[in-house]
Amino acid sequence: MQNNTTKENEFPGEIAVIVATDENNAIGKKGNLLCHLPNDLKRFKQITEHHTVVMGRKTFESLPKGALPNRKNIVLTSQKNAEYQDCIVCHSLDEVWQHCENEDKVFFIGGEQIYRQIIDRANTLYLTRIHHTFDDADTFFPAINLNEWTLIEKKKQDADNRHPFDYTFFTYARKDK
Ligand SMILES: NC(=O)c1ccc[n+]([C@@H]2O[C@H](COP(=O)([O-])OP(=O)(O)OC[C@H]3O[C@@H](n4cnc5c(N)ncnc54)[C@H](OP(=O)(O)O)[C@@H]3O)[C@@H](O)[C@H]2O)c1
Repeated sequence: MQNNTTKENEFPGEIAVIVATDENNAIGKKGNLLCHLPNDLKRFKQITEHHTVVMGRKTFESLPKGALPNRKNIVLTSQKNAEYQDCIVCHSLDEVWQHCENEDKVFFIGGEQIYRQIIDRANTLYLTRIHHTFDDADTFFPAINLNEWTLIEKKKQDADNRHPFDYTFFTYARKDK
C-alpha cells in the first residue's frame, strides 16, 4: 500500500511563525532587519526562549552573536559540510522534523525563503507590524489571508525615543479547516 504520510503529518506539534513586517510585508534589507525595535526583540526572546528555532542560513549569518541562547537552533542550508557553532545544521524540512521529534512547538524565525516554505503549514503566527513603509527593503513575508486566521492578541505600541515607529503586536491562530 502506498505510504499516505503527508507533509502536514511530518510534525504533529504546533508550527509557529514569528516575524516583524512593515506595512508592505517587508522583513529585511541587505541581510539585516529593517530597523531596531528593542521591545520587539524582547518579545521575540520571551516567546521563543526554551523552544526550538528554525532559520535559513542567511538569517543565521545576520545574527550579531551567532546562535540564540537558551534555544535549540536549527539552521537550514544546502551546503553539505556546513557547520555553525551551537547549531544543528539541516538540509531539508524533513531533516528538521527528525530533530523535532520530542518537541511540542517549533518556531520558524525567517527569513523570506523559510517563511514561504512553512507559512501554509503554520498553526500560529506571531506578527509585529511596523507602521511604516521602508523603500529599500529587499525581502518580504508572504501575503496571508486573514480570513484563515483568528486574532488572539493585539497590542499597539507607540513610537518613543528607542522605537522610531509605531508598531503592533499580533498573535493569530489558524482557523480549523
Ligand atoms: N523581520 C523579520 O522578522 C525577519 C526575520 C528573519 C530574517 N529576516 C531578514 O530576512 C532576510 C533573509 O531572508 P532570505 O530569504 O534572504 O534568507 P533565509 O531564508 O534566511 O535563508 C535562505 C537560505 O536558507 C537555506 N535554505 C532555505 N530553504 C532551504 C531548504 N528547504 N533546505 C535547505 N536549505 C534551505 C539556503 O541556504 P544556502 O544558500 O546556504 O543553501 C538559502 O540560501 C534578512 O534580511 C534577515 O534580516 C527578517
